[in-house]
Amino acid sequence: MNTPSDTSDDVDFEQIVESALTRRRFLQRTFVLGSIAALSSQVPVSIARSAPSRFPFIGVPSNVRDDITLPKGYSHQVVVRWGDPLWSDGMQFDHATRGTAFSQSRALGDNVDGMELFVVNDRMLLVVNNEYTNRTIIWGNRRNGKFVSDDDVLKGKMAHGISIVELKQTGRQWEIIKDSPYNRRITPDTEMMLTGPAAGHPLLQTAADPGGMLCKGTWNNCGNGRTPWGTYLACEENFNGYFSATTGEYAIPEELIRYGVRTKDRGYGWGTIDTRFLVDRHPNEPNRAGYVVEIDPSEPDSTPKKRTALGRFKHENAELVVNGDGRVVVYMGDDERGEFLYRYVSHDAYKPGEPTDHLLDNGRLYAARFYENGTGEWLLLSPKTTGLASAAEVCIHTRQAASAVGATTMDRPEWVAAHPHAAEIYCALTNNKNRGVKPNAGGDETPVGGPNPRARNRYGQIVRWRPMDSDHTSSAFTWDLYVLAGNPLVYSDDRAGSDNISVGNMFNSPDGIRFDQTGLLWIQTDGQYNNQNEYEGHGNNQMLVGDPVTGEIRRFMVGPRECEITGMCFSPDRRTIFVGIQHPGERGGSHWPEGGGRVPRSTVIAIRRDDGDIMG
Ligand code: FEO
Ligand code: CA
Ligand code: CA
Repeated sequence: MNTPSDTSDDVDFEQIVESALTRRRFLQRTFVLGSIAALSSQVPVSIARSAPSRFPFIGVPSNVRDDITLPKGYSHQVVVRWGDPLWSDGMQFDHATRGTAFSQSRALGDNVDGMELFVVNDRMLLVVNNEYTNRTIIWGNRRNGKFVSDDDVLKGKMAHGISIVELKQTGRQWEIIKDSPYNRRITPDTEMMLTGPAAGHPLLQTAADPGGMLCKGTWNNCGNGRTPWGTYLACEENFNGYFSATTGEYAIPEELIRYGVRTKDRGYGWGTIDTRFLVDRHPNEPNRAGYVVEIDPSEPDSTPKKRTALGRFKHENAELVVNGDGRVVVYMGDDERGEFLYRYVSHDAYKPGEPTDHLLDNGRLYAARFYENGTGEWLLLSPKTTGLASAAEVCIHTRQAASAVGATTMDRPEWVAAHPHAAEIYCALTNNKNRGVKPNAGGDETPVGGPNPRARNRYGQIVRWRPMDSDHTSSAFTWDLYVLAGNPLVYSDDRAGSDNISVGNMFNSPDGIRFDQTGLLWIQTDGQYNNQNEYEGHGNNQMLVGDPVTGEIRRFMVGPRECEITGMCFSPDRRTIFVGIQHPGERGGSHWPEGGGRVPRSTVIAIRRDDGDIMG
C-alpha cells in the first residue's frame, strides 16, 4: 500500500450532497425502494413494479423438508461431498469413522463455501473453500463429539482450507476427475507468502519465520473473489477461533482481543498438536491470519499469497471490479457485529497480458461512512488519518484503523456483489442483535439509522451503493436499501420488512449474494431455521433471486435441514449453477444427501433447467 498524501481524494461535501440528491430523486422514480422511504408508508409505487417479471420460474414455498426443493422444470445433482477422495490413493468416505487425517488430506474438505469455476487449457477446475468443521459431525464417532487422538485433531485441520478439483460434464451429468494434475488440497499447513505493506514487519515475525515473509496455511475461508487474470481469492474469516493459550492466566494483548483471540479455542484443538496455535508461545501468529489469499489454480505447485494490502479483518468475500481507468477495486465486508465495510483501490491499472503480481500489493485501503441523507464517503486508512505508526500497521490492525477514522459500524457485512453491467454494488448485512444495544468490540457506538435502521436487527437487509460518476475510485457514493428482510406473517411494524417482502418470499439473514450475467441478484441465507416465533414460516435456509430494477424477490430453492446455503458459481455456458450446501444437520437433524440415517455431508450441487436453457 502507498502512503499517499491524504488530501488527494478530498471531496467538496456540499457538491456531493447536491449531486447525490439530484441523482436520488432520479433513482426514486426508477427504483421501488429508497433507504428512508422504505421505512415509511410513502414509498412511491414504482412504474417498474408493474413491469413483467424476469423470473422464468414459479417461486417455491418455504418448508422444513430434509431435501433440496426447486421450482418445477429444474433439477439438481450431487457433484462432490465432504470426504469424497480426489485421488485414487484416497478412501471412500467411511460413515462409521468419518475418515482419518490421511484420508481427509486426500479428499474434499468440509463445509463448502465460496467457489469459482476456472477454465484452464480447456479443463474445468472447481475451486471451493472449506470453511470449518462441525465437531459433532466430524468427530461424531467419538463420545460427545470431542477429539480423543492427535489424528482426530489433524483430521479436523485437514478438512479446512481450499479444494481444487477438475470437473467434467457428460451429457447433463457432472462428475469429478480423480487424479487430475490440477487437483489440489490447500490446508492450514500449506506454505504461503506474505506480501504487501505488512510483509516482513516485526508484528509478523515468528520463531519459525524470523523474516515475517513465509507462513503456513489458511483456514476459515468463507466467501471468495476472482480476478480477471485467472486467480482465486480465498478470504480468511473467523481465524481467531483456532488459537488458545497454555494457561487461562495469559493476558491476551489488546490488539488481539479486538479480533476475538482468547485463551481457549472453539474446540478444534489445534494447539494440542501444533504450537503455532498457542498464542502465549507465539503471540505474533494471529497477526499472520485474517487476510485475502490469492491462489493460481492453473499452477498446482504455485505458492498462495496473502495480500496484506487488502487489510486484516474477518473477511467475508472480495468482490473485484476493474474501474473505467483500469485500476482494480476490491469491495470487502468484515463479518462481525458493528464492524466495517472496506474498499481497496490499486495504484496501477490492470493491463491484460502484463504482470499482475503488484496489483493487490500496492494500493490504498478505505472504510465506508454512510450518512442519513443517502450519501456516503470512503475514508482513507493511512498512518496520517488513523494515527497508526505505518502503512504496515494499518494493514495488520485494520479494524483499529477504521475505528480511528469514524467509519460506520455495520450489521455484520457479509458478501458484496457488483452489478455486471452498472456501477452499482450490493452488500448483505446479515443481522445484528447488538444494533442500538451495545458497542462493537472496539467500543464504537452502533446507533440505529442509515443502512442499519432497526434496533436488535434479527432479519438483516441488503444495502446498495452507486459510486459518484460511476467511478469506483471516487470518494463519494449514494446509497439506499434494496431490501429489509422480515416476517410479515408475525409483525406489522418494521420487522415485517420492506415492501418487496411478503409471506410468499420471506427469509432472514441474507449472506451469500452474487449477480448473474442477466443482472439478477442471487441471495443465499444463513439464518434461523427453527420456523417458530419470529421466524415462523421462514423454513429451512434458502436461495432467492432478486431483480434490482423492480425490487421483486422470488424464492428459488430451499435447502435441507439445518444447512446454510453458501457459495455459488456458473458453468462457462451458464447452463449450470453450482451451489454450496454447508453443514446440513449441524444440530443432528439431517441425513442429507444420502439419507437412510447416514452422516450428513456438506456438498456442492449442480442445478440445471430441464430444458437445458441458460440459468442466468
Ligand atoms: Fe462465514 Fe460471514 O460467513
Ligand atoms: Ca457467510
Ligand atoms: Ca452468516
